[in-house]
Amino acid sequence: MAVDGETIVENVFVIPYGARVVITFRLAVALKYRNQGIASMLLDRVTTMVKKDGVREIGLFVDSDKVDLHKFCPKRDFDSSTTESKFVVMWKPLT
Ligand SMILES: CC(C)(COP(=O)(O)OP(=O)(O)OC[C@H]1O[C@@H](n2cnc3c(N)ncnc32)[C@H](O)[C@@H]1OP(=O)(O)O)[C@@H](O)C(=O)NCCC(=O)NCCS
Repeated sequence: MAVDGETIVENVFVIPYGARVVITFRLAVALKYRNQGIASMLLDRVTTMVKKDGVREIGLFVDSDKVDLHKFCPKRDFDSSTTESKFVVMWKPLT
C-alpha cells in the first residue's frame, strides 16, 4: 500500500501459494492518481521482490466486472484464464 499524506493511493495484496507461486488481488489505484504509471510500477516492484525469493509464477485475481483491470492486465503480460486456461478458478460463497 502507498499513501499520499492521509490518502491511500494504491493497494495490492500479495499472498504466497507455496514456494514458487504468489497470488495477488485487490489491485487498485485511487481515481485521482490513475494514468500516472502507479499500478505498473507497483506490479513491477512486486514481481522483482518475489522473483528474488525464487517465485516463478504470479497470479492476479480480478473481479469479473472490473473492465479497466481486464484491459490493463494483458498489457502487463498477465494471461487471462478465459483465454489461456492455465488455471480456472472455482468459487463458492460461504454463507
Ligand atoms: C486498472 C488500474 C489498477 C490501473 O492503474 P493505473 O495506476 O492508472 O495504471 P497505470 O498508470 O500504470 O497504467 C494505465 C495507463 O496509464 C498510462 N500511463 C502510465 N504512466 C503515465 C504517465 N506518466 N502519464 C500519462 N499516462 C501514463 C499507461 O500508458 C497506461 O495505459 P495502457 O494500459 O494503455 O498502457 C486502475 O484503473 C484501477 O485501480 N482500477 C480499479 C480496479 C479495481 O476496482 N480493483 C479492485 C477490485 S479487483
